[in-house]
Amino acid sequence: MTAYDVQPGDRVNPGDPVTVSRYTAAARVNHWITAASLVLLAISGLALFHPVLFFLAGLFGGGENARALHPWIGVVLFFSFLGLFLRFWRANLWRREDGTWLARLRDVLSAHEERLPEVDKYNAGQKLVFWLMSILIVVLISSGLAIWDQYFSAYTTIEQKRLAVLVHSLAAVVIISVWIVHVYAAIWVRGTIGAMTRGEVTGGWAWRHHRKWLRKLVSGKTS
Ligand code: HEM
Repeated sequence: MTAYDVQPGDRVNPGDPVTVSRYTAAARVNHWITAASLVLLAISGLALFHPVLFFLAGLFGGGENARALHPWIGVVLFFSFLGLFLRFWRANLWRREDGTWLARLRDVLSAHEERLPEVDKYNAGQKLVFWLMSILIVVLISSGLAIWDQYFSAYTTIEQKRLAVLVHSLAAVVIISVWIVHVYAAIWVRGTIGAMTRGEVTGGWAWRHHRKWLRKLVSGKTS
């Protein structure tokens, strides 16, 4: 028996191993550019944040390079995440079943998925991560521009810059925590990483975790 991709409208024969397309190559490249940018931002940002972490600047060839590169990587992250946002915002809109899913978080954590409502492409946890990341990236880019003295020093007062540094640091701590949750969940739910590496998941994964999405896919109601 050969594995095959389910395309909208395809018949799925019981017993056949099935793989389901979840992300296009373009979406995956977009995702991994975003991921790499955030990791580089976290490392260079932490190096600038505290002398104890300054050794991390070595990865960028020293403190001056880390200082100069950090804001530019931030610009890459902003536009790259904008790409993800435009691709996925619709699938992350809050639906009625999301409240129920969240209220049964205990069942989620104890892997009792049979007690959860059927979910579409993303569950409530993924949606919260998505919207938190979206808000935090806007906060980070705006506070970051306010302290990017090389180009924008004249546009903000010292007091505004002080506030911006505080907001920027707090938002960075929160986004790193959200990122840890995102990566932990991607590893914890077996078979999820393949969605972002190969672009596909198994039919079993889709049936177990995103049944509503799979039903729509097979019936041709979504692509
Ligand atoms: C570097 C480590 C990362 C890993 C291992 C990782 C892994 C994954 C995986 C496996 C998925 C697919 C989940 C699914 O389809 O159910 C995914 C989706 C996604 N990731 Fe990541 N990711 C990482 C970093 C990031 C970063 C830094 C961001 C944004 C700042 C990000 C934003 C997203 C978004 C927006 C989605 C689509 C899910 C949604 O819209 O709710 N990821 N990631």
